Amino acid sequence: MIIRPPDLLPGAHEAHVWYAWVEQCADPRLLERYRALLSREERERLGRYVFDYLKREYLLTRALCRTTLSRYADVHPADWTFCTNRYGRPEIAGPAGATGLRFNLSNARSLVACVVTRDVDAGIDVEESNHGGDLLSIADTVFSPYERAQLLALPPELRRQRFFDLWTLKESYIKARGMGLSLPLQQFSFDVGAPRIGIAFAAGMAQDAAHWQFVLEHLGPDHTLAVSVERGGGPDFSVSMRQVIPEPGDDALGKAA
Ligand SMILES: CC(C)(COP(=O)(O)OP(=O)(O)OC[C@H]1O[C@@H](n2cnc3c(N)ncnc32)[C@H](O)[C@@H]1OP(=O)(O)O)[C@@H](O)C(=O)NCCC(=O)NCCS
Repeated sequence: MIIRPPDLLPGAHEAHVWYAWVEQCADPRLLERYRALLSREERERLGRYVFDYLKREYLLTRALCRTTLSRYADVHPADWTFCTNRYGRPEIAGPAGATGLRFNLSNARSLVACVVTRDVDAGIDVEESNHGGDLLSIADTVFSPYERAQLLALPPELRRQRFFDLWTLKESYIKARGMGLSLPLQQFSFDVGAPRIGIAFAAGMAQDAAHWQFVLEHLGPDHTLAVSVERGGGPDFSVSMRQVIPEPGDDALGKAA
């Protein structure tokens, strides 16, 4: 097993976001090295994708996840094993020794991202925000009345970006909770108009808004990224962002060799 010095273990009040652009990771030799990192199950899933762009997206997401986690533990990227919670969230199963590390993944067609924390849950979502469609009728089904009112109060030319801001925040929150769409999307509301992004919960949600922290980033004109961190009652988290081309390391080491 390769030994890497952990370069930047997330502190108790840190969340590290790592993201990669698909087009910057397109070298066939690099993709072959990414493939060598995959478990048997991951290779099987890769083989089931019909469209090449989905294969590339899936492969890069796995490579980003595995190489990112290996920055924090003396574990070769190929040696991580994963399980899923009952709602499908991937979590670290092994090897032993990576205790406390948590992560969440998101991918859009040209961008993949991973957030890493220690001992607390975080969720991440990236969306391509350059497509149109009938966003207002989607908003009717997934946004709360407060969020819909925020959207409608804006001039029409600002609504598309606000729609994706709210959408990515909502997805990052349900992913931080690890419960996906089993959470009622209209029972919590984001407020992105204030300097600090806020959340309000309907009574039945049994959540404390003060325990959450959110970050929203626009990566160029066409991509929106949101992170939700359950920071608890402590100080604010520092949330850092790093763009990378995942580096698989020494192919001769690790169980995939
Ligand atoms: C988890 C979910 C909400 C995110 O889906 P998505 O935005 O389409 O896709 P993302 O790329 O952001 O996230 C997918 C990744 O989240 C992770 N994930 C899966 N289930 C998860 C869960 N319950 N909690 C946290 N993360 C989860 C996985 O890593 C998954 O990728 P993988 O299967 O390749 O490992 C998905 O269950 C879903 O159903 N999405 C539907 C979209 C929707 O209607 N959203 C409402 C808008 S507000």
